Amino acid sequence: MKMKKILVTRKLIKDSEDKALKIFDAKLNPNDELYSQSRVIEMCQGCDGVLTSLTDKMDKETIDKLPDSIKIISNFAVGFGNIDLEAAKKRGIAVTNTPEVLSDATAEIGVLLILGACRRAAEGIESAREGGWKWSADYLIGKQLTGSRLGILGMGRIGQKIAKIAKSLGMIIHYHNRSKLSPDKEDGAIYHDNLKSLFSVSDVLSICCPATKETENMINKETVEYFPKGAVITNVARGDIVDDDALIDALNRRKIYAVGLDVYKNEPNLNPGYLKIKSAFILPHLGSATKDTRIAMANLAIDNIDEFFKTGNCKNKVN
Ligand code: GLV
Repeated sequence: MKMKKILVTRKLIKDSEDKALKIFDAKLNPNDELYSQSRVIEMCQGCDGVLTSLTDKMDKETIDKLPDSIKIISNFAVGFGNIDLEAAKKRGIAVTNTPEVLSDATAEIGVLLILGACRRAAEGIESAREGGWKWSADYLIGKQLTGSRLGILGMGRIGQKIAKIAKSLGMIIHYHNRSKLSPDKEDGAIYHDNLKSLFSVSDVLSICCPATKETENMINKETVEYFPKGAVITNVARGDIVDDDALIDALNRRKIYAVGLDVYKNEPNLNPGYLKIKSAFILPHLGSATKDTRIAMANLAIDNIDEFFKTGNCKNKVN
């Protein structure tokens, strides 16, 4: 059988690129250039599939212009908010993602956000680097996790793992999800069937749900008022879920005590309103950034294409 031809839009770890080259006639991106949408369309000419990253905006306009030869978009991420699933479906293009393999690494960052925001790590790091700080009984007093209530928005694999770690830290777990989980998956967490109910008991919130039309700007001017005064909001999922202006305003009013964000709108361009907030603990989208996880994700993204061409289907197909 003739080797399938694929475009890999971003540079991968070498082991993964070697694997791609073994299975496919793969066009790689050795300089890791950020391709524009029109460049992706152009480079897809003659290809059977494309391995995209979350930095590739595969909207309707782009998908409609892909050559007919493209049969699969394999996203190197669990989230697929960067891809218009309907547009792909209409063109008969399968879309796949990389679930499970990144849940542990992403949950670790989710917990880091909770710890960093609650215990004022951003201010602490800055002071330690500057020097001249003075210990005192009330210096950089933060919020203790033990005994606090953690609200989890989106109790999927990542949310469940964060719940497990947070529980071991003595937090009391509440959650909202499209549906209530079975008792073994809930593991003592308290279900709320609506946002208002969850937010009103969340001393700390961890956002772990996918970005969809339904979850877009779920944290907004109205919903931010549901929280107890001085709550902490963390986001390990996608920036689209938060209306930044509403959150920044709530931080400035001290309605919200601190934020921990690994993701935000318009990455890498952080809304400048956050820069004025010293307690904002913000990372550059590191959720899945460990070597083992990135290799596992790339292998899965490659295997998804292979499975699709061998069987006509793929277990990680999302459209
Ligand atoms: C990372 O953000 C992912 O969705 O994999």
